[in-house]
Amino acid sequence: MKRTIKKLLLLLTIFSLLICGCNGKSNSDSKNKKTLRVGTNAEFAPFEYINDDGECDGFDIGLIKAILSEAGYDCEVVNMEFKSLIGSLTTGGIDVTIAGMTITDERKQSVDFSTPYYTATQCIIVPIGSDITSLDDLNGKKVAVQEGTTGDLIVTPSDTNEIITDKNTVVKQFKKASDATVELLNGGVDAVVIDSSPAKKIVAANESKLTCFNDTSEEEYAIAVAKGNSELLDAINKGLETVKENGTYDELVDKYINNESTTKTYEKTGNVFVDFINKCKFVFVDTNGYIRLLNGLWVTLYISFLAVILGVILGFIVAFMRLSKDRHGKNTVASVIAGIYIDIIRGTPAVVQLLIMYMVIFQSKLGTVAAVVTFGINSGAYVSEIIRAGITAVDKGQMEGGRSLGFSYFETMKYIIIPQAIKNILPALGNEFITLIKETAIVGYVAIADLTKASDFIISRTYETFLPLLAIAIIYYLIVKILTKCLAIFERRLRRSDIR
Ligand code: ARG
Repeated sequence: MKRTIKKLLLLLTIFSLLICGCNGKSNSDSKNKKTLRVGTNAEFAPFEYINDDGECDGFDIGLIKAILSEAGYDCEVVNMEFKSLIGSLTTGGIDVTIAGMTITDERKQSVDFSTPYYTATQCIIVPIGSDITSLDDLNGKKVAVQEGTTGDLIVTPSDTNEIITDKNTVVKQFKKASDATVELLNGGVDAVVIDSSPAKKIVAANESKLTCFNDTSEEEYAIAVAKGNSELLDAINKGLETVKENGTYDELVDKYINNESTTKTYEKTGNVFVDFINKCKFVFVDTNGYIRLLNGLWVTLYISFLAVILGVILGFIVAFMRLSKDRHGKNTVASVIAGIYIDIIRGTPAVVQLLIMYMVIFQSKLGTVAAVVTFGINSGAYVSEIIRAGITAVDKGQMEGGRSLGFSYFETMKYIIIPQAIKNILPALGNEFITLIKETAIVGYVAIADLTKASDFIISRTYETFLPLLAIAIIYYLIVKILTKCLAIFERRLRRSDIR
């Protein structure tokens, strides 16, 4: 039994070291140049999207890299929700944002914009054959938009909106353009309103079903920095000028905006079986979906694993804090603090804890660490109860026996109580790990590319929903099944050592 635990600990240590090693590598090659954090929302092809290698790519990304390198900066691209970008600039979570962001009076109040770098309009995407032919026709209809964008503003009925006046117009806000499109394809809305270039890409990927038209005035995209950061703004404006003069800008337009080939589809033959195979190939192979899934699986596993370790450490501390009440026969400061901690963690949703941790405490930095800490703290509350229950389940006489042999409280715990309690605790801890694996499915909220996010990625590239979702459901199920089996074997071995 002792040897099994030792082996387990050794494995855990090796595993953690491996993970730390992998994470450490990426930071080691920083040069003398200052690195700026560039915020974007990579859900807006061709300006920004996640490419087949899982990296942020697109016109804006190429442009900002060229501009900042002219200005003598390195850059680190941070992918976040569109509506969080301005807030992040203000709080210093990011230094610059480039996200196909239109200059509006309202936004000008919070951030400073560079000189414009692109002119666009809003487009209305509708199913082929729709009777909607103007913006005005959207009155009273259901419209999908990307949350917080100018498209959202244009179709939301308000006292200042002169075109959409019908208060019955339903506006469904999505975080991603692709989700809005899936909604349209599924018939949940009558139209999607989005900027012209992304609209063209969306239509190209769904040629046989969708079409689009322009019916709005022009708007201009610009790069934004925090209000008052004129030094950086000047550098960006100068860089933009140079990049336009030296031809880089035009190269980027050709590469990303005028290039039709970034849109992938698969051909239908009419044979159900062949089509299914082609579809699977399109969904999982052509867009490197399988690589996303494998990487996502790894991320899910290691976040859960590290969180459980943190949870166990915290759990032990908190359990002893709570047990101090039993020991002293009355509430202690430690037991009260532990009680409040457990109460708060159990009483609030994990996703809210994650958002607070990432956005408020970590200021949108170190997403994975924020996730591990959140789930560690979250899991700690549950683990502490598991440990406490495990310890209290050991017969009272054991403590009395230990004490009468001359052991101190902690010695008795160490030599007599905990070794027995471990048998109750370990299987329950295994269950906690299994639960955590499923709970971490929300880390996509803070742009971590876990397993669930991998399916999201595939959906946004292919507009296919069923296959990617089915795939991750099967993968989660298999992990849980395998772990449950391992746990059962482990428990049986523990019991065997009992009989001996
Ligand atoms: N141009 C629009 C706006 O400023 C939409 C931009 C959306 N960009 C994105 N990366 N999601 O509101």
